[in-house]
Amino acid sequence: MNKYQEIINQMTTEEKIDLITCNGPWHTGYVQRLNVREMCLTDGPNGVRCENASAQATDKHNLHGSYSATCFPTLALLACTWDRESAHKIGEQLASEAAYYGVDVLLGPGINHKRVPVGGRHFEYFSEDPVLTSELASEYINGLQSKGVGCSLKHYLGNNTEYNRFGVNVIIEERALQEIYLKAFRRTIKKSSPFTVMAAYNRFNGDHCAESKEALQTLLRDDIGFNGAVISDWDAVHDRVKALNAGCDLEMGFIDYSGHKQAVADALKNGEISQETLDKSCERLLELRDKCFAEKGKPTDFENGYSVAYEAAVGGMVLLKNDNIFPLANSDFCVIGMAAETPRYQGEGSSRVESFRTSSPLEELRKIYGEIPYAKGYIRNEQFDESVLNEAKGLASKHKTAIIFLDGDDYAEEESSDRKTLSLSEKHLKLIDGICSVNKRVAVVLQMGGVTEMPYLDKIQALVQSFFAGEAVGEATAALLSGKCNFSGRLAETYPVKYEDNPAYPYYAKEWEKLEYGEGIYTGYRYYDTKNVPVRFPFGYGLSYTSFSYSDMKIIRGKNKTKVSVKIKNTGNVAGAEVAMLFVSKPGADVPKKELVGFDKYYLSSGEEVNAEIEVADEDISVWDTEKHAFEVRGGVYAFAFYGNTGNIVAEKQVNNDNF
Ligand code: BGC
Repeated sequence: MNKYQEIINQMTTEEKIDLITCNGPWHTGYVQRLNVREMCLTDGPNGVRCENASAQATDKHNLHGSYSATCFPTLALLACTWDRESAHKIGEQLASEAAYYGVDVLLGPGINHKRVPVGGRHFEYFSEDPVLTSELASEYINGLQSKGVGCSLKHYLGNNTEYNRFGVNVIIEERALQEIYLKAFRRTIKKSSPFTVMAAYNRFNGDHCAESKEALQTLLRDDIGFNGAVISDWDAVHDRVKALNAGCDLEMGFIDYSGHKQAVADALKNGEISQETLDKSCERLLELRDKCFAEKGKPTDFENGYSVAYEAAVGGMVLLKNDNIFPLANSDFCVIGMAAETPRYQGEGSSRVESFRTSSPLEELRKIYGEIPYAKGYIRNEQFDESVLNEAKGLASKHKTAIIFLDGDDYAEEESSDRKTLSLSEKHLKLIDGICSVNKRVAVVLQMGGVTEMPYLDKIQALVQSFFAGEAVGEATAALLSGKCNFSGRLAETYPVKYEDNPAYPYYAKEWEKLEYGEGIYTGYRYYDTKNVPVRFPFGYGLSYTSFSYSDMKIIRGKNKTKVSVKIKNTGNVAGAEVAMLFVSKPGADVPKKELVGFDKYYLSSGEEVNAEIEVADEDISVWDTEKHAFEVRGGVYAFAFYGNTGNIVAEKQVNNDNF
């Protein structure tokens, strides 16, 4: 008998039921008599949102009253860093701030796959590729958990959009489920052993995720091997008896759960739930308490948080176009757009952090260039206004260069609803048009969490996607635009020419009750590449102020793995970072043209060369066999290729698996 079973044996049924149920929205039940402590769980993922009960809620989600903490870039930007170290540091700093506020488990990261770009929470998620997502998510988790704060990997399973999020039934064909949707969870769990996994709101194959034996027992515990605790999303359990039997250990939420507690007690009496099932959940939750060892209340360093947030923001903003505008060589430019003055640096909903301190791009550019002329250009949350545009045009006509900062209206990107369109609003499109009509050197900086259409691209000379960059948004933007730092972010999802090009578009929001993932494995770049659909910017795209060359690629096929190496040299005049992205083309006609199997980011000074080595496990080149219901590594030729920052092959070699 282990020590947890000994404690459980001393518990009454009522105490056990308390243990598996929340006690208010952010705490668990406890058993004082046996020294079983309460635990505190708070959001996540891009900062600690520890609610301050005495503070007023001021937003429509009723969630703003929280203590201040570092607001890190949202995960959409973190993904574009392709930088494991950055993710790890964020995890460590999150742990330090969480512990300071007495938090045991941070509710994140969210690793749902970016299937349809209008997804309301896409700013909270990483990528359209499970390898990239899981590599960064596991570093974030390892950083967090190494300091004794638990994570809750969310939202398992199929919560890829917010469309009817509480009830929609998600249907994913077997191969796509295994190769895409479970893969991100499987890889993350194997690499970081998250203390908890959060069961999502939606249904999966008919059952709500928190009540689905297939999702929680068969796929998560039996197949993937997850052995931590499963918690429900907030109020995601409808039938507590079913949820407990499915393997949902802890019920969390906002409402009164006395009815659910009674239902469990009744079910124990009539045999619907076994004592063993209840005890197993209790055991997992007792073990969770031991895993979360961080010292509560220990002082934290919010200035360090700001620096970590700044580094990540610099590493993840993406330069999409640059015809001789950046780095800004002189001060004859003007800044237009409210987002420069009052930046948007995070999305809305449960992830919203009360920032420790923020910086604005305008303020930070002024620190470098002195007084910079500025016009609002548009009014947030209001319709297009001709006089506001005219004022901006007047300013832009007097300067050599105009830099327009754009963000969406409040709640344009938020939890609980998807966007309706990928288009910028009318006022933004008119602003770009108007400024381009009076100035020949126009740059646009987007503060948007997700993908937008860019029909204006040919009219402007430079474009930066700065995402929701966290509290250091201003300083990071200024550092990159001025050339103090070099751009090294690469897109973690494809930017289509138009929304309708997205492969999930024909299947999305067709029926209120059901979402069928009809595109199968051909999601994101797997679709655009394979079907030769032109895109605005491919997955992995991102420019730099320097250039890199690739040479001397080698492949060594070993047992259960392949080692690939290549020399990368910084051939430009300034220091910069290159992301080596390794893709594979597998044998067969039923596979995507290419799939990401590994990557690494290298910081190189001018002229410096590195030998990049990437090891690819066979699991990552395997294909799901729908007859054997298992992964297999096929015989035949595998083409490995590195792709450069503009989506072109820069080095390629093949290996024949039949020879091994
Ligand atoms: C969200 C979760 C979040 C929880 C607690 C839910 O509505 O889906 O991501 O962690 O609320 O705020």
